[in-house]
Amino acid sequence: MTDNSSPASKKTQDGQAQPGQAMWGGRFTSKPAELMQAINVSIGFDKRLASQDLAGSRAHAAMLRKQGVISSEDEAAIQGGLQAIEAEIAAGTFPFRDEYEDIHMNVEARLRELIGPAAGRLHTARSRNDQVALDFRLWVREACDRTGGQIRDLQSALLAKAEPHAATLMPGFTHLQPAQPVTFGHHLMAYVEMFGRDASRFADARARMNECPLGAAALAGSPFPIDRHATAQALGFAGPTANSLDSVADRDFALEALAAATICAVHLSRLAEEIVIWMTPQFGFVKLSDAFTTGSSIMPQKKNPDAAELIRAKVGRLLGSFTQLTVVMKGLPMTYSKDMQEDKVPTFEAFDALELSLAAMAGMVADLEPVAEKMAAAAGAGYSTATDLADWLVRELDMPFRDAHHVTGAAVKKAESLGCDLSSLPLSELQALETRITAGVFDVLTPAASVASRKSYGGASPEQVRAQIARWKEKLS
Ligand code: ARG
Repeated sequence: MTDNSSPASKKTQDGQAQPGQAMWGGRFTSKPAELMQAINVSIGFDKRLASQDLAGSRAHAAMLRKQGVISSEDEAAIQGGLQAIEAEIAAGTFPFRDEYEDIHMNVEARLRELIGPAAGRLHTARSRNDQVALDFRLWVREACDRTGGQIRDLQSALLAKAEPHAATLMPGFTHLQPAQPVTFGHHLMAYVEMFGRDASRFADARARMNECPLGAAALAGSPFPIDRHATAQALGFAGPTANSLDSVADRDFALEALAAATICAVHLSRLAEEIVIWMTPQFGFVKLSDAFTTGSSIMPQKKNPDAAELIRAKVGRLLGSFTQLTVVMKGLPMTYSKDMQEDKVPTFEAFDALELSLAAMAGMVADLEPVAEKMAAAAGAGYSTATDLADWLVRELDMPFRDAHHVTGAAVKKAESLGCDLSSLPLSELQALETRITAGVFDVLTPAASVASRKSYGGASPEQVRAQIARWKEKLS
């Protein structure tokens, strides 16, 4: 807020807009109060829409010329000026000025400085309302594409880690209690599935948002003979939006992207939490290199999984952003209201946090070194093959599952009292519970046998895990 000359005083006799004059200054006689400017200004954050704004203006100017709304000379001047602005932005020399409020008016004001009055023709048949709806939609669409790519990278990192560990035993948990043995590869592949759905949510959101609002103008459309199909096509949209009011009024495309982002962050936080748990000396299932851990300033023995903890926490920002924008949009009457300027900061913050988290998680997954002996030992602890014993009783002795469950419970109790696990329980002890039990039962009581037996589609057996790895490799290639 450096310019303290009155915008309204910078007008010529014929009312032509002058550099430094607020663009809507025609009907105003005094300068906005400083506080008004302070609350109104958005250039500090919507400068991130600069490249989208330029793309929209280029397509709009080309269409106006093609439709005979502006002359070829004016279009050429506008395109040249927009190119110069793009170069200034790239070089870091573009003057982002608070007195021009937002990115749209900053670009237009600079264009006027560079090419003169022809700049004033660019805004024909357009309003900042459809302009911002377009810019923001383009930004969110790009963010969805970037995020989709990052999710694929993370899935590839998980696949690369899962493949050599398709048969590496680890305990599977429910209630964070040892439940049944699985493999480390199988566990990682669970996240490949989750992140796959996340990617498809972004793809779905993208498809729905892929309609171009440009040409809705302020809210009611334009009296000029514009070609909305042409601008939509030029900007890579499937077509134009079909209702001008809706075009400038809704931000559901951003809400949907934020919802997808929040769900993805939930998945990231769960994996992050598992890494935190696995890293504890008590579990000791994995090791992370110094690249993704930090030491303590006072306790020399510590190796803290800070990156995982921060990823675990980021979901708060994501959900906060989704909540923030939901509340901004709630109850707004048709069509545009300035409230909607508050759509950008939460969305930018959310995607910044998500993109950083996805990158850090991909790096951390690549860095993970499973400690196979620790995981195998834990996989056999806690009577984790109890279900296998029950299943054997059903299969081999034709026992109803409920009865088998009961006999197995008694076997676990016996093993507990003898201080051994199920596979080292003497056959005589098992036969005391059920006379028909044979030595064949021991074939299913080790974690490796248990895992190998789970050949049902999507199950934990190494062959099933490898089949899923192959399917995903194919899908991601
Ligand atoms: N900076 C505004 C925003 O982000 C641009 C649209 C302003 N439109 C208006 N009628 N004041 O929403």
